[in-house]
Amino acid sequence: MPAQPLRVVVLISGHGSNLQIFIDSQSSGRLPIDIRAVISSRADAYGLVRAKQAGIEHETLLPQDFTSRECYDHALRDRVNRYRADLVILAGFMRILTPVFLAAYEGRVINIHPSLLPALRGLHTHERALREGLREHGCSVHYVTSALDAGPVIIQARVSVQPDDCGESLQRRVQYQEYRIYPRAVLWIAEGRIELRNHTVWRQGRRQDRPLVVTADDDLESL
Ligand code: GAR
Repeated sequence: MPAQPLRVVVLISGHGSNLQIFIDSQSSGRLPIDIRAVISSRADAYGLVRAKQAGIEHETLLPQDFTSRECYDHALRDRVNRYRADLVILAGFMRILTPVFLAAYEGRVINIHPSLLPALRGLHTHERALREGLREHGCSVHYVTSALDAGPVIIQARVSVQPDDCGESLQRRVQYQEYRIYPRAVLWIAEGRIELRNHTVWRQGRRQDRPLVVTADDDLESL
């Protein structure tokens, strides 16, 4: 475990179930992070309630209060700067970040996306996986760039699509995998085992040209 916990700010827009996993992992001591703040792009995000219950600083930054995406990102950058974050975790933050924000936090912003990237970028991934008749679906943890859901992938978890799946059942199984791989990726970053260099993921001092892919049965402790 690193001597100092990793200072993180979590950005949300909604339910915050991934945020809750980070809160629980911090308080149980499983993850060496210090969640300095939660910032939401929506005032009614349930994740704000979770932050409040956990005694974590939380605030909203509403897009409608700004005239452009860049203005919003300026304000977001200034807010995140206040917390001196080592890492910015997007947990259901439903906005594309511009270079105004990303230039300040290059290589220090990660996201979870509910698909096996580069497949199914964008929204409604579970329904689209079903509509396209995919046999495999899943989720990806990736570094964030200003292109939508396109930054270098750290780890992915595969989920097989069952013949009787509906959007909700598939989402449930994919989210269960999100809760496994997202804290694991953050642990690796906290331990210095993963980093971004020149737009490429480096894992334990080696260039990782392809994402690490796990299935529901894999033991992540051994990775
Ligand atoms: C998560 O399933 C995450 O994969 C998805 O939003 C959900 C948020 O849930 N993110 C994206 O679609 C980003 N492109 P949560 O608020 O309960 O953590």
